[in-house]
Amino acid sequence: MGWRPIVWFCLFISTSYVISAGVPTVIKINDDYDVTMAEEKTSHTISIVGNEFMLDGQPLHIISGSLHYFRLPSEYWRDRLRKLKAAGLNSVSTYVEWSFHEPEERQYSFKNSRDVAAFVRLAAEEGLHVLLRPGPYICAERDLGGLPYWLLGKYPNMQLRTTDKNFIREAKIWMTKLFEQLTPLLFGNGGPIILVQIENEYGSYGTDRHYMQQMRDIVLEHVGTNALLYTTDGPSSLFFRNGFVSGALTTIDFGPGYDIKTAYDDLRKFMPSGPLMNSEYYPGWLTHWGEKLQQVSTDAVVTTLRHMLDYKINVNIYVFFGGSNFEFTSGANYGSTYQPDITSYDYDAPLSEAGDPTPKYYAIRDLLKQYKFLKDNISEPVPSPKGAYGLISLTPKISLLSSEGRTLLGKGYAEMSGPLLPTFEKLRQRSGLILYETKLNETDGLLSITRPKDWIYVYVDGKLQGAINRMYKIYMLDLKSKVDSVLSLLVENQGRINFGPFLNDRKGILSDVEYNGKTLGGNWSITGYPLEVVSPMNSYHTKSDLTKGPVIYESQLVLPEGETPLDTFLDTTGWGRGYVWVNGYNLGRYWPNLGPQVTLYVPGVWLKAAPASNLIQVLELEAAPEALTMEFIDYPILNRTQT
Ligand SMILES: *[C@@H]1O[C@H](CO)[C@@H](O)[C@H](O)[C@H]1NC(C)=O
Ligand SMILES: *[C@@H]1O[C@H](CO)[C@@H](O)[C@H](O)[C@H]1NC(C)=O
Ligand SMILES: *[C@@H]1O[C@H](CO)[C@@H](O)[C@H](O)[C@H]1NC(C)=O
Ligand SMILES: *[C@@H]1O[C@H](CO)[C@@H](O)[C@H](O)[C@H]1NC(C)=O
Repeated sequence: MGWRPIVWFCLFISTSYVISAGVPTVIKINDDYDVTMAEEKTSHTISIVGNEFMLDGQPLHIISGSLHYFRLPSEYWRDRLRKLKAAGLNSVSTYVEWSFHEPEERQYSFKNSRDVAAFVRLAAEEGLHVLLRPGPYICAERDLGGLPYWLLGKYPNMQLRTTDKNFIREAKIWMTKLFEQLTPLLFGNGGPIILVQIENEYGSYGTDRHYMQQMRDIVLEHVGTNALLYTTDGPSSLFFRNGFVSGALTTIDFGPGYDIKTAYDDLRKFMPSGPLMNSEYYPGWLTHWGEKLQQVSTDAVVTTLRHMLDYKINVNIYVFFGGSNFEFTSGANYGSTYQPDITSYDYDAPLSEAGDPTPKYYAIRDLLKQYKFLKDNISEPVPSPKGAYGLISLTPKISLLSSEGRTLLGKGYAEMSGPLLPTFEKLRQRSGLILYETKLNETDGLLSITRPKDWIYVYVDGKLQGAINRMYKIYMLDLKSKVDSVLSLLVENQGRINFGPFLNDRKGILSDVEYNGKTLGGNWSITGYPLEVVSPMNSYHTKSDLTKGPVIYESQLVLPEGETPLDTFLDTTGWGRGYVWVNGYNLGRYWPNLGPQVTLYVPGVWLKAAPASNLIQVLELEAAPEALTMEFIDYPILNRTQT
C-alpha cells in the first residue's frame, strides 16, 4: 500500500468503466519469465499456465484479502482469518514488517504476536492460501515503511531502497532470518504460501533495474521454485515499467471505479500473457490526522469487484481487515506538508478495526456467493459484543520534566556541544520524545528551527512558550528569556514517512537552533523518553512538581463481576494529544481536538476480568480537560472532524 499524490487518488472516485474487449490469450510473460517455474521434485507445484495460476494442476482464481498480523493481538488471528474465509475468500495476503521483528539491530523476535510462522500455519488450518509480502520495504502506512529505524543510525549516509551496499547487505541478513521461519511453509514444501512479492510499488519510487534484480535474487535464494514471485505497482506503465522485475509476475493495484480496461490493456502490452491480478483493490482508504475520515461506497466496491470477477482477474482486497497502529508504529506521508497517519487502520474495510463484519463485508460476501466462491455451509459471521465500561477518573501522577520524571522515564545521553544535535537515530532511540536543553545568553528573542521533526514543545526555565512544528510549518517562536535561562526543547517523533521521495526521515532537530539569528552552539544536555515501558507510579514518583512539562495520569478500572473482558473503545474527547497504555499495552496516539479519530480501540484480551483492576496510563502532551475523565464506550468514533 502506498499513498499517492492527490491527482492519482482522484482517479479512483471517477465513474467505473465496463470492460468490453476480450482479454488476450497469448502465452508469454515478460521476456524471460519461465512459465514452468515449479520443478517436478516437489510434492506440490504452483505454476502459471496461459493466463491462470495452477496449483498441483488445478486452476486457481485468487480471491484474497490483506490482513496484517502485526496490527492485532495474536489471540484474534484465527477469528479474522475465519471471517475472511466466511466471506468467500480463498487466500490471505500479509506484509512482513522487518522493524516488528528486528526493532533493534540483531535483536530478533518471532514470539507470540510476532510469530509470523504461526500466523501462516493458522491461515493454512483455516483453508487459506497465503500471499506473502516480505518487502523489505512495505510502506503499509507504518513507521519508515516497515524498515527498522536503526538502519538510519548505523549508516548515517544510507540510501534506503537502493543498491547501497549496506542496505543490500542488511536486507540479505534479514531475509535469511525471516526465511528460517517461513521456508517450510512455502507451497512447494507443503505449506500455504503460494506467492511472494518482491519489494513494494518500487515503480512509484525509483528506476534502478539493478536494485529490483538484487531484491529478487535475495528472495529467490530462499523461495526457489517453491512459490511464484510477483511485483505490485500502480495501474499504468508509468509505474510498472519501473517496478517490474524479470522472473516475477507483474500485477497492478487500484480501487473501485478505476478504468479496468485501460489499466489491463496497458499491462497486456507489457505482459502479453499470464494471470491478471489486482494485488491491492482498495475497499477504503487511509486517513491522516486532521483530515476527514476516508470512506468508499459499498456499491462502488461491489461494482468494480464484479467486473474483475467477470474478467477472471485475480484480486486481493487491500485491506480486508486493517486493525490498529499500536505503540509508535504509525507512519506518515508528505504531500504539501508532513501528514502523520491516524492510529486506527480501520480503513473503511469490510471487517472493522475491531474485526466486525460491516455492510461492505456482507455485500462482498453476497457477490462471492453468486460467483460460487463461497461454500453454502459456511455461516455468516456477526459483530461481537462490546463493553461500555463507563467513565474513568484520571489522577495526575508525574511530570516528564520534573526531576522524578527524568529519573523514572528519562534516559540520560551524554552532554554534547552544538550546533548540530544528534538525531533519534544517532542516539538509537526509536520513538517517543527527546529533550534537548541548553542555556540562553540573551534577554528575550526569536527562536528559529527550520527542520523540526516533528513537534517541538519549547520551554524557558520550565515554562511552556509554545511549539515549533513540521506539520503546520511553524519554525519560529518569540521567547521571554533572561541571561542564563534554560531552554528546553522537547521533541516528539510523530512517525517516520512511509512513502515517496522523503523516506529517509530522521527525527529530532535536523537544523541549527538559532536565537536572535545566532546559532546556539554551546553545551547541550540530552534526555530521551523512549516510553517503551511506563511503570506504574508509586508515592515517591507522585511527589513530582506537576507544572514541569507533560504529565502522566493514571486510573484503575475494574470490569463488571463475572464477565469476560470485551473489546471496548476509549473516548478521549476533551484531551489534547498523547498516548494511552492499558495494562502496559500502548494503544497508540490520540489527538481528538484534531481528529477525525476520537476513540482508541482496546482489545478485550488486553483487559483483566474482575476482581483484578486494569491500569490505565495517559501521557498528555498538551492540556488535559478539567474533568480529567475518559470513557470506555461500545462503539468507535473515527469521524469527528475539527469544527
Ligand atoms: C462444508 O462442506 C464441505 C464439503 O462440501 C466440507 O468439507 C466442510 O467440512 C463443510 N464445512 C462445515 C463448516 O460444515
Ligand atoms: C551567546 O552565545 C552565542 C552562541 O553560542 C555566542 O556566539 C555569543 O558570544 C554568546 N554571547 C554572550 C554574551 O555570551
Ligand atoms: C561545556 O561543558 C564542559 C564540560 O561539561 C565545561 O567544561 C564547559 O565549561 C562548558 N561550556 C560552557 C560554555 O558552558
Ligand atoms: C460518524 O459515523 C457515525 C457512525 O457511522 C454516523 O452515525 C455519523 O453520522 C458520522 N458523523 C459524521 C460527522 O460523519
